[in-house]
Amino acid sequence: MCGIVGYIGPQEALPILLEGLERLEYRGYDSAGVAVLGAGGDILVAKRAGRIADLRQHIGGAKLPGRLGIGHTRWATHGRPSDENAHPHFGCDGRYAIVHNGIIENYAELRQELSARGHVFRSETDTEVVAHLLEEASDLPLLEALRQVTRRLQGSYALAAISRDEPGALVAAREQSPLVVGVGEGEQFVASDIPAILRHTRQVLILEDGECARLTAEKAEVFNRDGSPSARQRLHVAWDVHAAEKGGHAHFMIKEILEQPQVFRETTRGRIDVARGKVLLPEVEGLGLERARRLHVVACGTSYHAGLVGKALLEGIARVETRTEIGSEFRYQDPLVEQGDVLIAVSQSGETADTIAALREGRRRGARTLAVTNVRGSSLDREADAVLPTLAGPEVAVASSKAYTSQILTLTLLALHLAQLRGKEVTKELLQGVTELPAKADALLAQRGEIEALAGRIAEAKDIFYIGRGVDFAVALEGQLKLKEISYIHAEALPAGELKHGTLALIEPGVPVIALCTQSRLREKTISNMTEVRARGAHVIAIGQAHDEELALHADEVLRIPDVAEVLSPALSVLPLQLLAYYAAVARGNDVDKPRNLAKSVTVE
Ligand code: AGP
Repeated sequence: MCGIVGYIGPQEALPILLEGLERLEYRGYDSAGVAVLGAGGDILVAKRAGRIADLRQHIGGAKLPGRLGIGHTRWATHGRPSDENAHPHFGCDGRYAIVHNGIIENYAELRQELSARGHVFRSETDTEVVAHLLEEASDLPLLEALRQVTRRLQGSYALAAISRDEPGALVAAREQSPLVVGVGEGEQFVASDIPAILRHTRQVLILEDGECARLTAEKAEVFNRDGSPSARQRLHVAWDVHAAEKGGHAHFMIKEILEQPQVFRETTRGRIDVARGKVLLPEVEGLGLERARRLHVVACGTSYHAGLVGKALLEGIARVETRTEIGSEFRYQDPLVEQGDVLIAVSQSGETADTIAALREGRRRGARTLAVTNVRGSSLDREADAVLPTLAGPEVAVASSKAYTSQILTLTLLALHLAQLRGKEVTKELLQGVTELPAKADALLAQRGEIEALAGRIAEAKDIFYIGRGVDFAVALEGQLKLKEISYIHAEALPAGELKHGTLALIEPGVPVIALCTQSRLREKTISNMTEVRARGAHVIAIGQAHDEELALHADEVLRIPDVAEVLSPALSVLPLQLLAYYAAVARGNDVDKPRNLAKSVTVE
């Protein structure tokens, strides 16, 4: 996720900007840049694809002297990582420099409009339109110009801007992307997160959506959407830098679990038009999806589990035959791939060796390829014919959480889009249901105390079983993997009907069995399997929809998810499983973010 730092005051800006950007490295990035207003009145700029160390080397002895500046680490969404796409961005005459975190949804039409008026673009980013729009408002004071420009923007943004016409000011604005102002003695800061400025001040103003700020060396002023002064109170930050990076949470994993409602918003933003009943995925045009006879989803680990949910949706909603395969199996299987098939490679990192090899194997056999990945510029992103980015933001914890749910949601959108391409009806109610997922996820995560208590009770178990049918089984697989990888408790997931063919022998009094039961069509069948294990003394914890009050008659405990259309349930039913794994691992004193023997990105076979 992009990081922003800005400074105005009596000190040299460059070292403060670079050090601040380094404090934001945990957010993940692929390029970095700074702009400083030099003593001669020109804006001096340096930007580079790669690490901040590469940027430092590029700047070398140049130093970029000046006491007002902005800096940025970019996590690519629109346009691949490159020097040109790195921020800051400028309009045509270099009068303004801006940095941005978020996505400008209507950038394509703004860019077209600006180009028609003679503006020349130098990058592929959505951000650059902001600099050109500012240029057109240059008769206004800087803050007014920024406010006028933001009225044209749809989407999410945290923006910081400087102008050579107003050398004593730094301005910023926020809409659905985080931004904080740091208040110092005779100096002010802006940043997308507190760690970037914590070495300089502990007094912060956390901007809300629609607010903007004007900073001079002497003071920081915050304004409401209507331009009136905001009464925002300063907060004193007591955390140290490491706690601040995790937003005050004990681990990145819980931070990432709690970010999922926002990830759902980002993943669906601009891709669903409920009023017109449309799912918009221009990225997949030209792949021949509408004609493909068969789809192949290839992935590993958690991404494979998302691929299994994807199969259920692509077959269930779009009615297209879909095979989901583990990357390391597919590549050596002599797979049945035909000309015109489409292969979908799902990977958070975009660097998993087996998934990349599977994509190459599919392409060699004539498939068109689509990458569903969280990292722009990754190997998969570069190799695939088309890319559907998952927009979860960087995931730091080794155990995947928000990347998984963003993969599920992205594949849901793909299934809905494909259904429409093939003339199948997709109801507005279902689309509306997708847009309601963030609020439902928020409500579910707010109940996490209940799951923490449950995790305390099962943390000493030797084995835990997860059962479910259909899409519930796919989610059960993810639940058991999560538990294993961070709590080190042995866990196993089974299709509920499969228990009696062997594994039932392991059920003895007190063994926890987590039964997912969110699908009305399969409910009675799963309940029978719950009854089978209860009869042998298992402690059954059911996960069901809120309206299914009767489920409590068949389980020892019930965790409820908000009522949701059944095809959308995986995005919610996995949340209690992630929390259960997290709290069990914490109860056992494990290193949650870096579990033993595991790596975040598996780039070897
Ligand atoms: C998930 O918690 C794991 N860390 C792991 O299974 C992971 O999903 C797998 O290695 C695939 O990674 P990718 O999504 O980056 O390709």
